[in-house]
Amino acid sequence: MNQKYDIRDIKLAPYGHTKIEWVRNNMPLLKGFEEEFLRTKPFDGVKISLSIHLEAKTAYLCKVLAAGGAKMSVTGSNNLSTQDDICAALVEDGISVFAYHGATEEEYNRHIEMCLEHKPNIIIDDGGDLVGIVHGPRPDLAEEVWGGCEETTTGIIRLRAMERDGVLKFPMLAVNDADCKHLFDNRYGTGQSVWDSIMHNTNLIVAGKCVVVIGYGWCSRGIAMRAAALGARVIVTEIDPIKAMEAKMDGYDVMPMAKAAPLGDMFITATGCKHTITVEHMLNMKDRAILANAGHFNVEIDMAGLEEVAVSKKETRENITGYTLPNGRMVNVIGEGKLANIAAGNGHPAEVMDLSFAVQTLSALYILEHKGSLPAAVLDVSEEIDDVIARRRLEAWGIEIDSLTPDQEAYLKSWQL
Ligand code: NAI
Repeated sequence: MNQKYDIRDIKLAPYGHTKIEWVRNNMPLLKGFEEEFLRTKPFDGVKISLSIHLEAKTAYLCKVLAAGGAKMSVTGSNNLSTQDDICAALVEDGISVFAYHGATEEEYNRHIEMCLEHKPNIIIDDGGDLVGIVHGPRPDLAEEVWGGCEETTTGIIRLRAMERDGVLKFPMLAVNDADCKHLFDNRYGTGQSVWDSIMHNTNLIVAGKCVVVIGYGWCSRGIAMRAAALGARVIVTEIDPIKAMEAKMDGYDVMPMAKAAPLGDMFITATGCKHTITVEHMLNMKDRAILANAGHFNVEIDMAGLEEVAVSKKETRENITGYTLPNGRMVNVIGEGKLANIAAGNGHPAEVMDLSFAVQTLSALYILEHKGSLPAAVLDVSEEIDDVIARRRLEAWGIEIDSLTPDQEAYLKSWQL
């Protein structure tokens, strides 16, 4: 492969560098790894392909791995979440980047393939796009892969399906399932950044509104918690009876989506499932209801069905499309039904991504250190990695905690009274 990048405009690089510098100063764990890696070069000569929403935090992860000697090749994991100034800054730093904002589906798929053409040893994926290509049309690009890491819930669901069908070719660490990832990124990160996006894009008040949150998993409970804190009345819909009970005891109304549809002013779905908001639901909504998706793929809101029934559509505000329905009412969809907080926002706060990307960094090191000895399966991130990251994060905050005395440790391990 001769081409080292496919980006929109290298002149944007200075803006990208400024954004990366800002996050660098707010990501103490990654900053610590960067300093360490510049000395120790643990990834010297290792080829890594990375696909995560391509904005400043991801760019910094990329730079940290490159500081450790890795040869990085990068693409985005959603055509709308890629930021062109960030791509330009990475290219200026000598990193191979294949992505630009607003790429067509064809261009987006081409970029994923180009990102893999340096034949990576390690794949860092978000939603399973890279892994999907090497298990589908381009198995030749997986010839040198030792293993990889998956960032999000939806990607892990895909990987487990591949493992179940006996087709997964190499070990994949389930980064999302590490405590230092989903307990913080999915809950507090999504909880804050989804509201950041909705408030910025709509410029409407949340207090006093009826907010319907679809799902009560890690992401959606964060979204519900922050909606309540902003003064909304929150309704939760679920399919899992335990999660529905949790939502009830956390103080929210719980009901089926068909009943919630006419009540909500704003609807946010974060389930990883398809068509949680159907055209039938939309036809029963109030005029000018706001719809946002926070799940990984743009399948949660039935956008194809909406496009089909809508009488007309127009941009009602930047990043918002208003669809007029046959009944004369309108629904307003944020960011084309793609992840509202990333495709139409700045993504998670830097401090939260610091935790997630610390898990990614140590997981990539784990793959390197255990190459050839791990099974081709979906593997848990080790408890030691979670422990190291949590302790380093507390240290960065200046927080100390207690430890067990030998007597307490013996007591907790014993079954005798
Ligand atoms: P989770 O597995 O913790 O929760 C999903 C919840 O949705 C479960 O409680 C499940 O019972 C419920 N659910 C499934 N189908 C449903 C349906 N038809 N109606 C109502 N509820 C339903 O998953 P998590 O970690 O909350 O992730 C959800 C999605 O968000 C995934 O696609 C994930 O990849 C994505 N994600 C997005 C982020 C963002 O920045 N927007 C960050 C992290 C994850």
